[in-house]
Amino acid sequence: MRIKVFTLFPEMLRPALSQSILGRAVAAGLIEVQLIDIREYSADKHRNTDDYPFGGGAGMVMTAQPIVDAFAANLPPSFSGRRVYLSPRGRTLNQRIVEDLAKEKELALLCGHYEGVDQRALDSVIDEELSIGDYVLTGGELGALVVIDAVARLIPGVLGSDESPEDESFSTGLLEYPQYTRPADFRGQKVPEVLTGGNHADIEAWRRERSLALTLERRPELLDAAPLTDADRAMLARLRRAREVEARLDGIPLKRLGLQDADRFPKAWFNAFVPAENRKAAKRQCFSGRRHVGWLWQAFSMGFIPDFVEGEAARQRPREEQPGAGWLYLPDDGLLYEAGDWTVLTPEALSPLGHFMLADAALTRTYVETGRAEKGPYFHEV
Ligand SMILES: C[S@@+](CC[C@H](N)C(=O)[O-])C[C@H]1O[C@@H](n2cnc3c(N)ncnc32)[C@H](O)[C@@H]1O
Repeated sequence: MRIKVFTLFPEMLRPALSQSILGRAVAAGLIEVQLIDIREYSADKHRNTDDYPFGGGAGMVMTAQPIVDAFAANLPPSFSGRRVYLSPRGRTLNQRIVEDLAKEKELALLCGHYEGVDQRALDSVIDEELSIGDYVLTGGELGALVVIDAVARLIPGVLGSDESPEDESFSTGLLEYPQYTRPADFRGQKVPEVLTGGNHADIEAWRRERSLALTLERRPELLDAAPLTDADRAMLARLRRAREVEARLDGIPLKRLGLQDADRFPKAWFNAFVPAENRKAAKRQCFSGRRHVGWLWQAFSMGFIPDFVEGEAARQRPREEQPGAGWLYLPDDGLLYEAGDWTVLTPEALSPLGHFMLADAALTRTYVETGRAEKGPYFHEV
């Protein structure tokens, strides 16, 4: 990729082009950046390159002549790339545009300064205007560096073999998941366990969930265009429901656990509460594929769990418990929360959520609200 930058201040770009990944790419010839000083093409005897704006107004405007002549002298007729003016009026740069630019063999970038550039220069030598964001810089040089940097890292060989541009923010249509490196425990802040567990499928699932959750939280509009699988859409539905639930339970201290933990929870609960001799039959009757809906209360109502308390007596029991850590599980939504004290999660506070269960941390006591007037609730102790 050959990039020609037309600027009044080439020295602003030079240091950035000699450092780090960009510097290595330039040194290796993977990108060739030529800095063209517009002033050298000024026909003015004082080498002026700007003048007062016609019609009045603050500041100076870059004149057309040096720019048009600089382009003519440096872009041969065979130039086939795009000629871009960095400008706050342009299309806002994004990863899609960067990917398109990276397909070009050559680029010409014009950096404005002062109040901008005589429109006739733009009409003569520019194909399109690109902005690097909705704010105004003093000049286009930083914008040109942003374009060069973003484009360069998509050129094969610029990133090392172990650095990939493929699963980063925007490349997947989503924001990137959080990254961690050593140490696994930094001053008491631990890396999420799944990342050190070595199970690649679990790691992928965790990363996808975090990507979707971050995108939903910070840039929900990206989800409209992102390529999503059915599993992604299901996960998003759970994440949206989690927001509703958390808004309702605002003020109750809870920590939402990952969706994988939520998926594993019903099995742990089932094994803790359904006596071994009933499990086979209970699984046949109560489970339906990976859907957990109904497991909990069906296990009670179909008699697979002996000695439970039902109705108002069941509702009373969580209130009599000693404070301690526990779980809130919403089976219809597959959401699992850890509570520092499960006794603050009263049936009254939770009943708008419909079908839910509470359990103490040791899974020795559980309360199940079925969300159905004619069934339950149930309380059970093992
Ligand atoms: C002070 S600005 C001129 C702004 C111009 N008067 C306007 O309001 O659109 C000077 C130069 O900085 C560059 N520039 C400023 N903001 C930019 C942005 N957000 N993206 C790209 N280039 C920018 C452009 O090359 C521009 O010609």
